[in-house]
Amino acid sequence: MRPHVPASATAQGLPPALFARLVAWQRTHGRSHLPWQHTRDPYRVWLSEIMLQQTQVVTVLGYYQRFLARCPTVSDLAAAPADEVMALWSGLGYYSRARNLHACAQQVVARFGGVFPRTSAELQTLPGIGPSTAAAIAAFCFGERISIMDGNVKRVLSRALGFDGDLAQAANERALSTLAQALVPAGASHDDMIAYTQGLMDLGASLCARSQPQCLLCPLSADCRALAGGTPDAYPVKTRKLVRRHESWWLLALRRSDGAVWLERRPPRGIWAGLYCTPVFGDEAGLLAALAGWGLDAAAVHWQAARKHSLTHRELRLLPAVLDVADAWDVGLTEGRWATGAEWADLGIPAPVRTWLTEG
Ligand code: ADE
Repeated sequence: MRPHVPASATAQGLPPALFARLVAWQRTHGRSHLPWQHTRDPYRVWLSEIMLQQTQVVTVLGYYQRFLARCPTVSDLAAAPADEVMALWSGLGYYSRARNLHACAQQVVARFGGVFPRTSAELQTLPGIGPSTAAAIAAFCFGERISIMDGNVKRVLSRALGFDGDLAQAANERALSTLAQALVPAGASHDDMIAYTQGLMDLGASLCARSQPQCLLCPLSADCRALAGGTPDAYPVKTRKLVRRHESWWLLALRRSDGAVWLERRPPRGIWAGLYCTPVFGDEAGLLAALAGWGLDAAAVHWQAARKHSLTHRELRLLPAVLDVADAWDVGLTEGRWATGAEWADLGIPAPVRTWLTEG
């Protein structure tokens, strides 16, 4: 599906003063005494960003200092026993972060000689560093002109730009990310990138709160399309992520010597309603029981590679099998028909089943 990008938020319509306003606001009103600020050491910035991913600033403060006291450099962390790293993390939660942290430090040593790479693209090749964390490290430490895109930032920018595409869809996320990138001026200095990046975080953590944003005090109020529209609370637009139920379907092609396959009409409701399909079973036992009932030999079944098929609400794992049967055999089959390859073209057959029957 194409992302819905409001006309007002196309690259031409981006507020030209947004970057400068946020930089100026951060320098006077933003946070300036957090221990991971005023350093360009990527080890320290990286450690803080990982700790801050799912944990509040006040909780992180103590852990951060203790961690650095025990592991002052990335090499110290790489060399520390895994048990000790887990103990230092204990209480912060989301322990996969600690395992990735340790693995990342070891890769920085093994792959990059103990020196963090300087670009967001390379940083993203390390364990536990996603696009937004990579952007934060690259902007803070190396002045890369790249926009972070964490949850707070998506809220700030979707409001400022009046971006009402549903962020539950990856295409809309990408569209917002492209617009965010276009807000960063080509000539932005390293110091500006530090203030802008921190400013996005600070604004999202303070005035541009999820509910009851304090728009009167906001440095972006003159630019903010959500405010102009009167509904800043309505942004960002994000519906619940669609949860697809996983199911496995066993498909059995009973095949005659001329290649004709037994096809049955699917029930009038549900998946593939009314289409022609081979017999479908909800589990392997059901398939084997049917074979026994029909007097067919399960040992002669050719099992084929499983394949995935995604529907709107279902993720199907199709497990196809073929069994050659004698031409005269038709014990117990009702409500269907034998169809040769030439006849499949004229029958409504679900696309993945057609592909399987025709291509194997
Ligand atoms: N959350 C993520 N990164 C942060 C930072 N640098 N300062 C404050 N909060 C943050």
